[in-house]
Amino acid sequence: MKRSSKCRFRTILIAALASLFAPFAFADSHAGPSSAADQPTVLITGANRGLGLEFARQYAAAGWQVIGSARKPEEANELKALEVRMVQLDVADQGSVDRFAASLDGQSIDMLINNAGIFPRVSRIEEVDFDDYSRTLAVNTIGPVRVTRALLPNLRLGKKKTIINITSRLGSIGLNESGLFYGYRESKAALNMFTKTLANELQSEGFICATIHPGWVQTDMGGPNANLTPETSISGMRAVIDKLSIDESGTYWSYSGEQVPW
Ligand SMILES: NC(=O)c1ccc[n+]([C@@H]2O[C@H](COP(=O)([O-])OP(=O)(O)OC[C@H]3O[C@@H](n4cnc5c(N)ncnc54)[C@H](OP(=O)(O)O)[C@@H]3O)[C@@H](O)[C@H]2O)c1
Repeated sequence: MKRSSKCRFRTILIAALASLFAPFAFADSHAGPSSAADQPTVLITGANRGLGLEFARQYAAAGWQVIGSARKPEEANELKALEVRMVQLDVADQGSVDRFAASLDGQSIDMLINNAGIFPRVSRIEEVDFDDYSRTLAVNTIGPVRVTRALLPNLRLGKKKTIINITSRLGSIGLNESGLFYGYRESKAALNMFTKTLANELQSEGFICATIHPGWVQTDMGGPNANLTPETSISGMRAVIDKLSIDESGTYWSYSGEQVPW
């Protein structure tokens, strides 16, 4: 081939390749990393430690916009390190819930995870302390009701319209064969009932509400002898959440993907 024809051939080849790949280059530069507005938003209560912190870590890594609540944000160093939005919230204090909701006014939230909880270890009926008992119901049952009610306007703005309540297997009446854990069991059984009632009420609006048992997990609550790491529990719960459909609203799951009897 002569020099001039070689040049022309090279020019044509480059032009052909450019026109072949241009649409992809264009598409790529526009698709880019999705903008913050495209990312779904999750709000997690009790996100400063334990399962809440791991939820925040995994959803942030998966590209979600995470809003994590803490009772003492100034001390929530691990949550701070994730560089997610932090909000102050004590789920048992209506004043705190009101301020928290006001700070989120107009913010769309796709998913709420009511995770914050406490576990007083009461084995026998004679050991029940009624102040502790009331506190357990205030945090584990009434807390998620307060937070859900306060955030409904935000959740209605969201696309996913998902409300997840972190329960326990200990809240299952069907599986209760041992007694023990007064207060905690009742608080989670009532949380399960709240989930079902809420699911019925909000189904026509397209909401998905579910309650999930995280397994026995190595956190301050679960203790060091628990058989699961937070990573495993949260990966399992995220997989359950991912698969939930509107027909499954008002259901009770284990982190491992099976439904739990009420
Ligand atoms: N770990 C398990 O084996 C296990 C098993 C079954 C169910 N669960 C459930 O999983 C959820 C998370 O448990 P976890 O193991 O992560 O417990 P955790 O390590 O004890 O952490 C509890 C979280 O809840 C927050 N919290 C407590 N009271 C609160 C209040 N009044 N307002 C706002 N936040 C409050 C704590 O905040 P502070 O740091 O300010 O106290 C902390 O962030 C709970 O609902 C629990 O019942 C856990």
